[in-house]
Amino acid sequence: MPNFRPIFILLLPLFSFPVMSQKTELVIDVGHSIAKVQPTMYGIFFEDINFAADGGLYAEMVKNRGFEFDDPMMGWKQPKSNPYGFNPTSGIATIIQPEADAANRNFCRINIEDDKGYELINVGFRGMGIKKAAIYDLSIMARNPGQTITKILVQFIDSLGNVLGEGSMAPTGKDWQTYSTKFVAQATNPKTTLKFTFKGTGTIDLDNISLFPEDTWKGRKNGLRKDIVQLLADLRPGFLRFPGGCIVEGRTLAQRYQWKKTVGPVWDRNLLINRWNTEFAHRPAPDYFQSFGLGFFEYFQLSEDLGAAPVPILGCGMACQFNTGELVPLDDLGPYIQDALDLIEFANGSVATPWGKVRNDMGHPEPFHMKYIGIGNEQWGPEYIKRYKQFEKALKDAHPEIVIISSSGPFPEGDFFEYGRSELKKLNAEIIDEHYYNSPEWFRENATRYDNYDRQGPKIFAGEYAAQSVGITSPENKNNWECALSEAAFMTGLERNADIVIMTSYAPLLAHEEGWQWTPDLIWFNNLEVYGTVNYYVQKLFANHRGTDLLAVITAKGDVLTGQNNLYASSVKDANSNEVFVKLVNFSNKKQALEIDFKNQKVGSEATVLTLRSDTLSDENSFGNPKKIIPQESSLHVSNNHLNIEITPYTFMVLEVPLK
Ligand code: AHR
Repeated sequence: MPNFRPIFILLLPLFSFPVMSQKTELVIDVGHSIAKVQPTMYGIFFEDINFAADGGLYAEMVKNRGFEFDDPMMGWKQPKSNPYGFNPTSGIATIIQPEADAANRNFCRINIEDDKGYELINVGFRGMGIKKAAIYDLSIMARNPGQTITKILVQFIDSLGNVLGEGSMAPTGKDWQTYSTKFVAQATNPKTTLKFTFKGTGTIDLDNISLFPEDTWKGRKNGLRKDIVQLLADLRPGFLRFPGGCIVEGRTLAQRYQWKKTVGPVWDRNLLINRWNTEFAHRPAPDYFQSFGLGFFEYFQLSEDLGAAPVPILGCGMACQFNTGELVPLDDLGPYIQDALDLIEFANGSVATPWGKVRNDMGHPEPFHMKYIGIGNEQWGPEYIKRYKQFEKALKDAHPEIVIISSSGPFPEGDFFEYGRSELKKLNAEIIDEHYYNSPEWFRENATRYDNYDRQGPKIFAGEYAAQSVGITSPENKNNWECALSEAAFMTGLERNADIVIMTSYAPLLAHEEGWQWTPDLIWFNNLEVYGTVNYYVQKLFANHRGTDLLAVITAKGDVLTGQNNLYASSVKDANSNEVFVKLVNFSNKKQALEIDFKNQKVGSEATVLTLRSDTLSDENSFGNPKKIIPQESSLHVSNNHLNIEITPYTFMVLEVPLK
């Protein structure tokens, strides 16, 4: 093999140069729909990794608001406690744990015996981002048995100790009560803390200390960050996969995601350590827990807001096989299967059913119209197939209308994959979830992956994919243009096979600038800002041009264009907007000329061109330059159903061609 390499390097420029300079002629038969493109074709994968939920999409600003972390004072500081040395009875917050098994076990007892200025400070999620003139909603549960603490002052404090906004409350009730107030930020600052000081002496108990910006997505209480949701909405996703990812499975069965513990009153939801807290020694996150404030109700509500089909993925009695791989004995799977059945009832059942009533009590009597359910995340091997069969039987017996998604494991090829796929095919599985984390080259080379796939077998959900610039789980991976353009090339192959590939989603979705564990990610945020990576804009261009009908793109020689001369293409017609969309990728360093002949239906004389490009494959969007590479719009004349275009090097473009 090494002997061939020099010859390849020598010959490549000789053969490639003349071809590059030629015009490529393409024919698109607009009159012939090869297949329907499913509304679910381009969707979103959400997992609480990289502080995607708490500290991210979920707009709560107080970390460890209920004092329920393993270290109950994590996230809280008491800089002015013990002013005179250790005195456990004055100016000290103590964690009280009255009910070991309750969801909300702990509260914080504060004893103040003098007025020396005791302070309790919450540090937020790597600080708290505040915006000038924005209003913040604070709520606290408090019990003031002696009624001697007369006031709590609450302040945003910057790193120099300046006060950037303040409010106060008088929690005078002897028994537990919720107190709330609003206050305004006087400045914009990405990293404030929230300081509480107390007037009076005595004992006060505090719990569930919560702070949200008033301006959440749709103005909802317990809401989501508006700026992040807006980027999701701009994708116009066809589905929303939730809650993952490995988080579904848990490192152990005890730490698996249990949807029932994420619905109902927010303070009754059990906190759980986030599996990404300890997963990577190179990115430890000891303060990463799941409050489940963004739970399954909020997930269904968000899906509805986005017009996206909910695609919940549930555990199947197997902990993550990369971790403990714990198994629930086959005879004990009942409760796991019941969870799946009950989730369907929670989403779709009438308000007279027990779980439909929970949904109703949470303010949503109408069903969420859930149609899909995923059984297991990245499961592989015979133990998965045995468990899948039990789920499938029970689900289909009770709900034949629900479409089941099954797993082919973590890799897109190899023994696990081949075994899973062949067994699932024998079982007539409906949709198989395939994952690809691989090099940019792999993505380009696999643009043909589905061209010869079995048309009689299960449909495909490309449920997690992203090009890795260095290697899977490397902290050096970048969201660079080489990766994004390679994904675009690959996606032309997904789209060309839209008859069998019916759902696709990039993963992971979100990452906090400081709190991340995994890179690359589609969208990066910090406490004040959010930006879409170049990969995001590739996703957006595909999803915003999903179309309704798949069209063939054929070269003048009658071949399908799948990467010849580093050119990739796919095309769809949109029956709603009466347009044809053509996606073109030039992954070469040469300008390439193209002529497209639209056959069998008249097209308009002017096309819109959306171009995403950079000459530098290592280019990225960033907090400093979030719009370095974004789509640029131009127009192009179409003459007598022929369109001539020169595609610049390293370019992805979408043509919007009106139909007459
Ligand atoms: O997307 C990050 C992780 O990659 C997911 O949790 C898992 O399913 C995959 O291995």
